[in-house]
Amino acid sequence: MEQTHRITVTQGTETHTLRASPARTLLEFLRDAGIAVQAPCGGNGTCNQCSVVCTGLFCDAGGQTREYRGEKALSCRLRPAGDGEVTVPLSAGDRVLADAIDIPGEGTGLGLAVDIGTTTVAAYLYDLATGRCLGAAGEMNAQRSWGGDVISRIQHARTPEGLAALRDAIRSQIRELARRLSPDTAKITYVSIAGNTVMEHLFAGLSPESIGVAPFAPLSLFGREEAASGYFDCFAPDCRLYLCPAVAGYVGGDITAGLLSSGASSSDGLTLFIDVGTNGEMALGNRDGFLSCATAAGPAFEGAEIACGSPARDGAISAVETDLKCTVLGGGAAKSLCGSGLIDAVAALLYNEIIDETGRMDAEKYTLSGEVYLSGKDVRQLQLAKAAVRAGIETLLERSGKEYGDIAQVLLAGGFGAFLRLQSACAIGMLPPALLDRVRSVGNSAGKGAALALTEQGRRALAELTAKCGYEELSSSPLFNDNYIEAMLFDEWEEVFV
Ligand code: FES
Repeated sequence: MEQTHRITVTQGTETHTLRASPARTLLEFLRDAGIAVQAPCGGNGTCNQCSVVCTGLFCDAGGQTREYRGEKALSCRLRPAGDGEVTVPLSAGDRVLADAIDIPGEGTGLGLAVDIGTTTVAAYLYDLATGRCLGAAGEMNAQRSWGGDVISRIQHARTPEGLAALRDAIRSQIRELARRLSPDTAKITYVSIAGNTVMEHLFAGLSPESIGVAPFAPLSLFGREEAASGYFDCFAPDCRLYLCPAVAGYVGGDITAGLLSSGASSSDGLTLFIDVGTNGEMALGNRDGFLSCATAAGPAFEGAEIACGSPARDGAISAVETDLKCTVLGGGAAKSLCGSGLIDAVAALLYNEIIDETGRMDAEKYTLSGEVYLSGKDVRQLQLAKAAVRAGIETLLERSGKEYGDIAQVLLAGGFGAFLRLQSACAIGMLPPALLDRVRSVGNSAGKGAALALTEQGRRALAELTAKCGYEELSSSPLFNDNYIEAMLFDEWEEVFV
């Protein structure tokens, strides 16, 4: 029989003593135990965000065993080599956007609308008769211990056990959010869900593997109503469940829901709709139809793989002024740099000519505040991410035969769009400076679209707009590649900081 070790795990006020196999990393052990750890790189040892505090004997990735005495270490790099103690930080203070709308009253009972983001999950409880939102709750996606982006989740879902673990994690998280919002979940008669195509596959227990390889074809595009009892046993016996329709493997139900709730799909004017995260998903069009695409922006906007990066949470620098004064979320000393702070910092350093238009920085790193700094590699990461988004915008415009002057509004969706300073996004060239006066944030448009999908009218509108939404695959597009190379430079900041 395999020898196991006793590991006492503390997170916040909770303590558990569990048996751990020396064959599993601490990250895998904690994940198996249902204890959430930030792990944006999925355990590859590159994101530096899975730290725990260890006491006892542990073996590192190089095979060296030694005694740890209350030291911080990456949980994906260590295996237990004896009995020990592990303290897991609470991700308290993570910013989760859960802004709600009221919807047309229709039906009876309660409705639960859920936005499953790759990073966060938000749930909204509705009185279906009045259409009033009774409450909202949001938290980090429980699947984040399996990686911060959709690619690492796809990799973990390759085996039936991995797929089941991810499926169960999100379903039990939704169940818990519903319980938090409603003391009597048996009154919930309708559940609507919006997520990107991979998140909807994982929720449905379908393998997203085919989305990870060309031609990136999903098993399902969803958009149909079914019995909720196939997914949950805690809602009304006749409860129905609807997953918002996807357009393609990387343009999912979160985008169609956003196009609906933002009014873009019923507007005459041309809208450029952008949801920026590890993927930049976007659509250009109006009530007559849209052309959509997705670009792999990488994790920089989420603050991952940035030397001092973190999600938007207390202690993170979220804004940097042109005089290089930093704003820290929650006040106090700066501990990290989140995506919006990163964009601001690069914009401010461009303004002060500390970074040149090629992205070269005079020194190896620039200290922003206390121990938080920006490295040359961080600037490079942001450069790749912003070029991907900008090249997607340019490609959509060219494919649609449109110009900046034709665009009536630019809508930024999601948490990142809400915290982002638009001026800085234009100064680094992620968005065209010419569109600065037409950009606005629409908050959690996927959650609001999921809420509208609680109504029959909303579901019909979603089906109609999805049928009129085309898709441009960028991974093999020479036009996108040319635009990408062109978008690498930081040569537009003077158009913004006049
Ligand atoms: S460094 Fe451990 S999960 Fe990324």
